[in-house]
Amino acid sequence: MCGIVGYIGPREAHPILIKGLKRLEYRGYDSAGIAVLNSTLKVYKTKGKVSDLEAFLVDKDISGTIGMAHTRWATHGEPNNVNAHPHFSQSEELALIHNGIIENYAVIKEELIQHGYVFQSNTDTEVLIQLIEYIKKSSGSTLLEAVQSALCQVVGAYAIVILSKTDRSTIIAARKGSPLVVGIGQDEFLLASDASPIVEYTKDVVYLDDEEIAILQRGEKIKIKTIRDVEKHPEVTKLELNLSQLEKEGYDHFMLKEIFEQPKTIRDSYRGRINEGNDVISMAGIIDHIDRFMNARRIIITAAGTSWHAGLVGEYMFEDLARIPVEVEYSSEFRYRNPIIHETDIVIAISQSGETADTLAAIELAKSKGAFIYGICNVVGSSIARASHAGSYTHAGPEIGVASTKAFTAQVTVLALMALAIGRKRGTIDTPTFHRLVAELQTIPEKVEQTLGLDKDVKEISKIFTYSRNFLYLGRGYNFPVALEGALKLKEISYIHAEGYPAAEMKHGPIALIDREMPVVVIATNKGTYDKVVSNIQEVKARQGRIIAIVTKGDSTVKGLADFCLEIPETEEMLVPLLATIPLQLLAYYIAVNRDCNVDQPRNLAKSVTVE
Ligand code: M6R
Repeated sequence: MCGIVGYIGPREAHPILIKGLKRLEYRGYDSAGIAVLNSTLKVYKTKGKVSDLEAFLVDKDISGTIGMAHTRWATHGEPNNVNAHPHFSQSEELALIHNGIIENYAVIKEELIQHGYVFQSNTDTEVLIQLIEYIKKSSGSTLLEAVQSALCQVVGAYAIVILSKTDRSTIIAARKGSPLVVGIGQDEFLLASDASPIVEYTKDVVYLDDEEIAILQRGEKIKIKTIRDVEKHPEVTKLELNLSQLEKEGYDHFMLKEIFEQPKTIRDSYRGRINEGNDVISMAGIIDHIDRFMNARRIIITAAGTSWHAGLVGEYMFEDLARIPVEVEYSSEFRYRNPIIHETDIVIAISQSGETADTLAAIELAKSKGAFIYGICNVVGSSIARASHAGSYTHAGPEIGVASTKAFTAQVTVLALMALAIGRKRGTIDTPTFHRLVAELQTIPEKVEQTLGLDKDVKEISKIFTYSRNFLYLGRGYNFPVALEGALKLKEISYIHAEGYPAAEMKHGPIALIDREMPVVVIATNKGTYDKVVSNIQEVKARQGRIIAIVTKGDSTVKGLADFCLEIPETEEMLVPLLATIPLQLLAYYIAVNRDCNVDQPRNLAKSVTVE
């Protein structure tokens, strides 16, 4: 979704701003803009990519040591030059960039029109800056007071940055429900919607909290006030991010780099959480709240997209190992139902970005009903991590490709650790099983490495299916969420229609779709239901569907039936998703590359979905 960068300090602002926008491109956007303060306040913006903005700026005066820039992902008003940010106030004294949605913008706009305000764009953002100007002028207040007053009136989510023509040494920024990070350098401040544009300049950052306003002035320390004028002490934290994590490092795409990082990222997800004797799993979030887990009557997992698929894997794990009933909910549905939630419920919210608006709202709802919230997030300091009572980071490092890959396997790893730790404490798994599973988990990075060796085979297979119009993915048990995830990867980045199904459900409808044009990906590694999956494969074959099968090394039955077979190393059933997902990620990747699709920034998609 939208990206924000701001700078105030001794250097020229625009190179930092443009570079920062490039670092945020992965979030998804459709237009870009910049504002700089020099002799006056200048705003330039255009539909299209950051490179289009750069081309547009070539002959413009954009010098100045204070400025802000934005990438917009359209919500209110189509993507065009006028709707792009920054937006000026009527007198052009103020300019604003904004992430989020002002929900009551229509009412405010109507009132401002009564006061003679004229609007250039269709955006909710322009309404906010006009409101700030109106309050400032009509009440004679300072800019900070006007911002506070306006933010008390608006309903919705925002991360905003404001520049004023009449104050050349100050940036004002605020957030609610949409992330904003302030970087503190040597006599300079940076601002961004995540840390990636900042890390090159400083590792000292302050994450703003909801309804906080940062006042950044040259030569002064950062000041933070709430929208109700309460002074806050800025809490400076150190970034753990490295610049190299934000580069492609020789790979053609971030997605491919991230797929190949998985042996390391899975290891990083369990590193330091398992003791040497394989008999203790230490997760602070569980240990500190062990009574909650011991007494839990139910676990509700809430998430969206790929994180929801990880949640489905978690459901099997918690039920198998900890014997706690689990429900897995789409956050977007859960938040608008009237769910029955008890104080003995544990709500696990899973999110790579930690900013997904629906998941945040689901958390708030569950919290208000007394549930205990456990967050599983990848982005440190993210909103969901901070809104949770406890949690675990997945430690997969920054995921730049819009299609989630390494975050999924890291989430599944953390869920496995949790299920094992809780099962052990509750006495629902015996000691030998616990040891066996914990030991096996630690072989997974090596087995992922071996699975990545399928890369060339998958690339070859992808050529045969580049122009397929539909795909079906089938799996059972732990492999059902893998089928869903494989289908999601393919649709997201190659724009081919794909559906994931529990293999046995095929007979109840999707079988009607099967003909010689239909590729069917079957994950056929299950031990318990192997014969049943083989029968499903026979049914597809009988209708001339083409089978791509993921099987356990040494399998001969499916090999004899499938058109293409990809062998993965043998592992425990609950850990198969960590391996079986890999060839499906590669298949989606290569098909998208063959189709010349924008793999890392697929059309219409955003990396973190911070609006509903
Ligand atoms: O950041 P989150 O994990 O909360 O994001 C949830 C979904 O938006 C995300 O998984 C989405 O489905 C990805 N594009 C999947 O590849």
